[in-house]
Amino acid sequence: MRILAIESTCDETAAAVVEDGTRVLSNVVATQIDLHQIYRGVVPEIASRAHIEQILPVLQSALAEAACDIASLDAIAVAQRPGLIGSLLIGVTAAKTLAWATGKPLIGVDHVHAHLYSVMLNDAPPPVFPAIGLVASGGHTAMYLIRDWLNITRIGGTIDDAVGEAYDKVAAILGLPYPGGRPIDELAAEGNPKAVHFPRSMLEPGSLNFSFSGLKTSVLYHVRGHKGRERMDAVSQVELRDVCASFQAACIDVLLKKLRRAIDRFGAASVIVGGGVSANRGLRAALPSLGLPVHVPPPAYCTDNAAMIGGLAHVLLTAGRVSELSMDAVTFSALVPSPGTPGEGRGSA
Ligand code: KG4
Ligand code: ZN
Repeated sequence: MRILAIESTCDETAAAVVEDGTRVLSNVVATQIDLHQIYRGVVPEIASRAHIEQILPVLQSALAEAACDIASLDAIAVAQRPGLIGSLLIGVTAAKTLAWATGKPLIGVDHVHAHLYSVMLNDAPPPVFPAIGLVASGGHTAMYLIRDWLNITRIGGTIDDAVGEAYDKVAAILGLPYPGGRPIDELAAEGNPKAVHFPRSMLEPGSLNFSFSGLKTSVLYHVRGHKGRERMDAVSQVELRDVCASFQAACIDVLLKKLRRAIDRFGAASVIVGGGVSANRGLRAALPSLGLPVHVPPPAYCTDNAAMIGGLAHVLLTAGRVSELSMDAVTFSALVPSPGTPGEGRGSA
């Protein structure tokens, strides 16, 4: 069964053809990083305009790379929630148009659930359930209890910044490029993680929620701190590496502690980590210390992509969960209690 999938929840225009839920026949991603770089964050209006320009060429490339035409597809899938409304609308409108014109089933997919499902792509060994899932990205940091791919419950999340957002803001403080995750990760590998003790916010005892805004502020105070600087421009490369390593150690400590807490509470048999921050080398190296089988996608499927949408869509289609052509784009995740839930970052994962 072949599904053409579309992803446009935030600043990536992506399309993919996925066979039987795991075999990726094509995976095309047009990134907008160049357009948003000077603002150090995603500008929603710029994002939706770029999606309009990219959506048709990206769809054409995905079909060409997979060497298939629309007639040979079994369904059209799209990331329908959560995300920036202007961005979502482009992908959802394209998918509905294709489904209507071809008469093929339409499948709306939750982008955050798809980040978790990304560990299944390219015939990777499936996790044993129940699993604890962590989605850590620029727009989202939340944990999930996964009983199976159709039964995913949110058990905690950030009450302020997403962890990727903290990476991006700390990178700005340190004068590093946007997005900040990768440059900080690379510098951290050469620094001393014990050089500066940044705070680890655990919130109230037993909490499965996260908070990263205090950590970001303490990096700012440390940099300004005793030497009265606004930015890190003038500091030595050694100090820069040490601050990166110490910041990263604090992030990883918090993520691991909360994962451990969730594993114990729900008796999980495995751990799944997805989203842009799951590309982090320090985090990937630390995860085996949890003592359970750990599933992390290959780097190409950590950040936003349409292959993960096409994969999860296959599970939904097989279970008969087909969407109506009247399906709307929705800015919040279906399993988040209300649209006003704090800590959903900029509204995308
Ligand atoms: O999932 P994603 O592509 O998109 C959304 O946030 O919607 O994640 C992007 C985020 C950015 O904040 C970026 O800084 C972070 O993932 N990121 C990383 C790494 N690579 C990307 N964070 C830490 N370490 C990395 N190696
Ligand atoms: Zn995402």
